[in-house]
Amino acid sequence: MKTLAIDIRSAEPRDATAIADVHHEAWHGAYAGIIPHKALTAMINRRGRDWWANAVRRAASILVIEVGGKVAGYATLGRNRARELKQQGEIYELYLRPEFQGIGLGSRLFAAARRRLAERGLKGLVVWALEENDNALSFYTGAGGRDAAEGVEVFDQKALRKIAFVWD
Ligand SMILES: CC(C)(COP(=O)(O)OP(=O)(O)OC[C@H]1O[C@@H](n2cnc3c(N)ncnc32)[C@H](O)[C@@H]1OP(=O)(O)O)[C@@H](O)C(=O)NCCC(=O)NCCS
Repeated sequence: MKTLAIDIRSAEPRDATAIADVHHEAWHGAYAGIIPHKALTAMINRRGRDWWANAVRRAASILVIEVGGKVAGYATLGRNRARELKQQGEIYELYLRPEFQGIGLGSRLFAAARRRLAERGLKGLVVWALEENDNALSFYTGAGGRDAAEGVEVFDQKALRKIAFVWD
């Protein structure tokens, strides 16, 4: 049996193409049938290689998880944006390529993102997920998140409810 090394590290500009691919595949897999097609396609197309290269260069906090040298997923994190929530950190996005889902990599990436926020001195964290994204809801509930707030996001006139999970 082949053993594949799993590594979680900060993203570098050379990862931009791989992150754009993960973003494309994961968003399509997670949101097709939930977010209207036109809005979803526009969101995916906006975040191509150049967009990600720029995000990495501008020192946005982006982690990648590599399996056997291939970028299998990414997480972006930073300061919590919702003033009504007291937690200081936020994981803005956490996505894996569909073929790497369900084997524990999301849990490892989540733990690493949480550690990175703590190292930056941010206490507690928030993650938002669309209410219709059942996998995300079971993942964050399973990871010990508490459902603390609700919001609405509008895509092409379709309003979708989102839920904030928090960890103190
Ligand atoms: C959600 C996501 C990050 C979870 O990562 P993952 O590696 O697939 O999850 P793990 O294998 O670490 O599973 C951890 C727990 O999450 C839950 N879970 C994960 N995938 C699930 C699925 N497909 N259905 C139901 N529960 C699931 C389980 O409770 C699992 O617990 P277990 O280990 O006791 O079975 C990943 O599946 C993903 O990227 N999905 C698509 C994009 C997405 O929805 N991102 C979150 C946006 S807010």
